[in-house]
Amino acid sequence: MADLGTVAGLTTPALLVEDTLLEANLATMSAALPGDRLRPHVKAHKCTALAARQHAAGHHGFTCATVREVEGMVAAGLGDDLLLANEVLDMRRLGALVAEGARVTAAVDSSQTIAAAVDGGVREVVIDVNVGLPRCGCPPEKAGDLAASARERGLAVRGVMGYEGHLMMVTPEAERTRLTEEAMKLLLAAHAEVGGDLVSAGGTGTHAVNTWASEIQAGSYALMDTAYGSLGLPFAQALSVLGTVISVSEGWAVADVGLKSLGMDHGNPTIEGASVWYCSDEHITFAPSTPGSVHVGDRVRVLPAHVDPTVALHEAMYLASGDRVLERWPVDLRGW
Ligand SMILES: Cc1ncc(COP(=O)(O)O)c(C=O)c1O
Repeated sequence: MADLGTVAGLTTPALLVEDTLLEANLATMSAALPGDRLRPHVKAHKCTALAARQHAAGHHGFTCATVREVEGMVAAGLGDDLLLANEVLDMRRLGALVAEGARVTAAVDSSQTIAAAVDGGVREVVIDVNVGLPRCGCPPEKAGDLAASARERGLAVRGVMGYEGHLMMVTPEAERTRLTEEAMKLLLAAHAEVGGDLVSAGGTGTHAVNTWASEIQAGSYALMDTAYGSLGLPFAQALSVLGTVISVSEGWAVADVGLKSLGMDHGNPTIEGASVWYCSDEHITFAPSTPGSVHVGDRVRVLPAHVDPTVALHEAMYLASGDRVLERWPVDLRGW
């Protein structure tokens, strides 16, 4: 295998994944939700090499957010059971994958998305139910009728999904549990009308408290971010954006990790031992806690507040152990 050199030799900004922390995160989740209890969401990492590790950990079904993610997973040989947990109005590319033998199930929440599945050649669907997040999903009381009309049109209805995304960051945990139970009661009521084996829901924030869904769609747990880090979940920050300090002034320093290499919708990133002031296109300005401790040319690890949009800005992530780069993993599920 090619020698990928050292972390110190990487061109920055670079997505860096600490191998031992990633492995620990995968093992912790697989112990909590073994096998088919977890349907890992690939939107958080967009990387088939990482998905292959999740597959090796025993999770054979995956959740996707885009048609491109589904295509990339099939191309990587990970198409055993893919759930597109999102509404799509042109399913012809998905139908082509089904025709080639991949198992693709699409979320539907309207007569239009049911028609798209039929017209596109997708044969299996789940009814997407709104459990409180104002996004996709039909009202729970409409799920039974939608399932009946999907079946009338020849589709197999595998069950329901309902993403309680508005509850992921609720604290304390007891309150998250209580609200998740309320949301899942809506989903289970819909499931009673719809039938099928799948009750698909959940994410990293509710993975431990959502005991009502048959499978959990968590994604961020593998790489993590500081927003989820604040919840005290049993997962470590395996991902950082490696930067180089390019300028030092009296009281602050600047590294080459800016808005174009960081998802900022959950707020400022974090640098250990420093306080981050702000980010601009190509720069992060921060004040080291110990004045004079940071020098031009130093490397800094910037921990993003939101993993998904951060990863999507990069072509590749580098798997590292200490200073050694073990592998370069393309972020190959980007695009649409
Ligand atoms: C449909 C769906 N399921 C599950 C998740 C959970 O992902 P995470 O584990 O990153 O919170 C998401 C995240 O946005 C989502 O959109």
